[in-house]
Amino acid sequence: MIKKEVAELLVKQINLELHSGYLYLDFANFYEEKNLPGFAHWYVKQAGEEYEHAMKIRHFLLECNEKVSLSAIADPTTKLADLKAPLLEGLKHEQFITASINKILEKAIEVKDHLTVNFLQWFVKEQGEEEMNAQLNIDKFEMVGGSGSAIYLLDKELGGR
Ligand code: FEO
Repeated sequence: MIKKEVAELLVKQINLELHSGYLYLDFANFYEEKNLPGFAHWYVKQAGEEYEHAMKIRHFLLECNEKVSLSAIADPTTKLADLKAPLLEGLKHEQFITASINKILEKAIEVKDHLTVNFLQWFVKEQGEEEMNAQLNIDKFEMVGGSGSAIYLLDKELGGR
């Protein structure tokens, strides 16, 4: 059995994961408008991963006989000033999600909910990768600078995800 207070945090995490997907879809729409289909594709894929994260938690809760109630997803639209802005926002967002996962893990440890401690190990590793990928995108973007032809090539690369 998982602990009630931990289950409640996991239900909230489902909402955060769905919101992450919503946010990345907004980034994708931004890049579509800028005629960068590769950047857009990268974020559409990322949005799909976020949906999978939400489903993973949903499945775990249902297996534990916990009720999963959904709530409204926050508006994802953010002010995106330039081509680099979504990349920076993306890293900031992943750091926020990592902190949220860590908070649930710490609560699970505190109340000796070993089942959830074990379940969350996958998410701890995944968040490490998500932050690394977000940082990598920023590094690549900074490497190419403002050069149009280099951004075109980077767009091709990101389109291959
Ligand atoms: Fe599901 Fe990008 O964290």
